[in-house]
Amino acid sequence: MAPPTSSAITLNVNGEKHTLPVDHRTTLLDALRERLALPGTKKGCDQGQCGACTVLLDGRRALSCLQLAVAAEGRAITTIEGVADGERLHPVQQAFLDLDGYQCGYCTPGQICSALAVIAEHAAGWPSAVTADVRPEAGVPPLTADEIRERMSGNLCRCGAYVSIVQAVARAAGVDTGETPTTAERSGGPTPAGSADAGTAA
Ligand code: FES
Ligand code: FES
Repeated sequence: MAPPTSSAITLNVNGEKHTLPVDHRTTLLDALRERLALPGTKKGCDQGQCGACTVLLDGRRALSCLQLAVAAEGRAITTIEGVADGERLHPVQQAFLDLDGYQCGYCTPGQICSALAVIAEHAAGWPSAVTADVRPEAGVPPLTADEIRERMSGNLCRCGAYVSIVQAVARAAGVDTGETPTTAERSGGPTPAGSADAGTAA
């Protein structure tokens, strides 16, 4: 007898359990968007390159387009729909709003989910590729603009809202990067010489 190609699975999304039959090939992204009517998580490239589909799995960043729904069973899944506290925005969401961390907003759910995990990872002392001193005794590295750019580098923004995204993550994390974006930078315009390139920075 051929092995089954579908199963009934239970996904724990934003604290609610949903049982649904899925084809084993269904990605978590498609299960969220098409089966559970949670369209906040966006499908950009559908091949793990843009970060638009980022959700949290047990508090860590995951690209939902590269995860099979069946493999997410039993894990705590957080999507952008589960980030706010009722009508009250999460501080990361509020910072994106206050600092214009988006233009079209398509990448924003993934950016915000990544930012949540970035702030937690940094607070837990995890080094990044740009952390100068990775020895445990060096402690938590300062959350500089370069640290934020590096840690958010898996999330692309076709609108080029990177400068404001860095500032929003910094504000939500309670740090001052010492950088103040100009109006042109906020609107995706050219960045001054010496600053990170908006197209690749975050
Ligand atoms: S849609 Fe998943 S990384 Fe682009
Ligand atoms: S705000 Fe448009 S893709 Fe990022």
